[in-house]
Amino acid sequence: MSVMPLRPSRSGTPHNGTVGPTLPEDKVYELIGDDGFRRLTGAFYRQIPADDILGPMYPASDFAGAEQRLRDFLIFRFGGPPVYIEKRGHPRLRMRHNPFPVDQAARDRWVHLMNNALTEAALPAEAEAVLRPFFEHVATFLINRNQEQPA
Ligand code: HEM
Repeated sequence: MSVMPLRPSRSGTPHNGTVGPTLPEDKVYELIGDDGFRRLTGAFYRQIPADDILGPMYPASDFAGAEQRLRDFLIFRFGGPPVYIEKRGHPRLRMRHNPFPVDQAARDRWVHLMNNALTEAALPAEAEAVLRPFFEHVATFLINRNQEQPA
């Protein structure tokens, strides 16, 4: 049974303390398949409607569509079929997140819910070691608002 990481990895080095070869990003899909990404995005989106920060940002009438967009993106990004690109074009993630107020608190909550989802999905450790730091880095890159200043 592995122990949950206390701190985010900044290097992509596995969290289990070993220094070993890291799974190449484009091999993650081969390892976990559609099923792995489906379990992950399912576990992530199940938490969204009830979340006080993120819930209101997502389209209440189209959670299934939002889940599919994230899943298609991740499958493409990690070596699977490029269905996302065919449907949506270039990801342009910063631009597409502009309408949503992503401040530090929203970023931290997103990462927290995704870390819960990673734990629930129980993917192979090599895949998890690639995905956890990836989500942390991209989420930081997507911050597009300053924290509200106290009055
Ligand atoms: C940092 C906190 C984040 C917030 C608050 C956030 C919020 C949102 C919202 C509200 C949407 C619209 C849902 C929809 O598709 O209808 C969205 C879309 C999306 N997000 Fe995020 N997101 C965050 C981080 C991330 C990260 C880290 C990734 C990738 C690793 C990501 C990937 C995507 C993708 C691929 C879409 C669909 C884009 C499209 O094709 O329209 N997001 N996000």
